[in-house]
Amino acid sequence: MGMKGEDCILETRNLIKFFGDVLVLNGVNVKVGRESVTLIIGPNGSGKSTLINVITGFYPATSGKVIFEGMDITRKLPYQIYELGIVRTFQIPQPLKNMTVLENLLIAQKHVGENVVSALNYGRWNKFEEELVEKAFKILEFLKLDHLWHEKSYKLSGGQLKLLEVGRALMTEPKLIIMDEPIAGVAPALAHEILNRVVELKKKGITFLIVEHRLDIALKYVDYVYAMASGKVIAEGSGEEVINNPQVVEVYIGGM
Ligand SMILES: Nc1ncnc2c1ncn2[C@@H]1O[C@H](COP(=O)(O)OP(=O)(O)OP(=O)(O)O)[C@@H](O)[C@H]1O
Ligand SMILES: [Mg+2]
Repeated sequence: MGMKGEDCILETRNLIKFFGDVLVLNGVNVKVGRESVTLIIGPNGSGKSTLINVITGFYPATSGKVIFEGMDITRKLPYQIYELGIVRTFQIPQPLKNMTVLENLLIAQKHVGENVVSALNYGRWNKFEEELVEKAFKILEFLKLDHLWHEKSYKLSGGQLKLLEVGRALMTEPKLIIMDEPIAGVAPALAHEILNRVVELKKKGITFLIVEHRLDIALKYVDYVYAMASGKVIAEGSGEEVINNPQVVEVYIGGM
């Protein structure tokens, strides 16, 4: 995990991002160990979401590199990065609100479209669709959302929507899941539940890069932590090391 010399799945090298004249990422170097849960913390506006957006190809880097499994993916487009096995969730969940929970999973699968959803509605199945529904139900069971399978997703709570995002990500059988504030605004019990699921998935071989403000809840679930401020990594190490780092304490207290 982190910089400890184990197998590194993702790495950024001196990543720089300008928005116009504004320097938002100022030479960011992070490493994500394979099958780790790596956390990025930092106050509002420190560049955390921008880092995710650059890694996943939503924003082009101004300079620097993003390396995934030894491959330079810096100039790749979002769908190409997704095809390589990196999937992200958003700070604000983006399900299709008028679709049911199950439908939201089905359409998240790579290379399927409306036909699967209409098969669901008309009960005309083929083998592929049956397997897909089975896969979706397994994921919903794992996330303890299966009892909600037929609910329209706008009826879900904030925390349940975050879990639904995880479910949609899992449908694509990713290698790396990047999550932007998966527990923000989520009640503590469900926040712990979400992170418990993350750790379970890590044990099954999925790597996580998570952006969160809240180290208090996330601390015990994560392997390695980076703290950002003003577009730079200011500290890294175990959760304990990072929260006790004087510079980290300073930016958090200074920012309150
Ligand atoms: N598309 C954009 N165009 C211009 N400036 C942007 C854009 N996206 C972000 N910024 C600016 O970049 C800086 C970093 O924003 P970013 O969203 O990455 O921070 P963050 O660490 O995710 O903050 P938060 O904790 O509030 O989510 C902010 O000053 C923000 O205003
Ligand atoms: Mg953000």
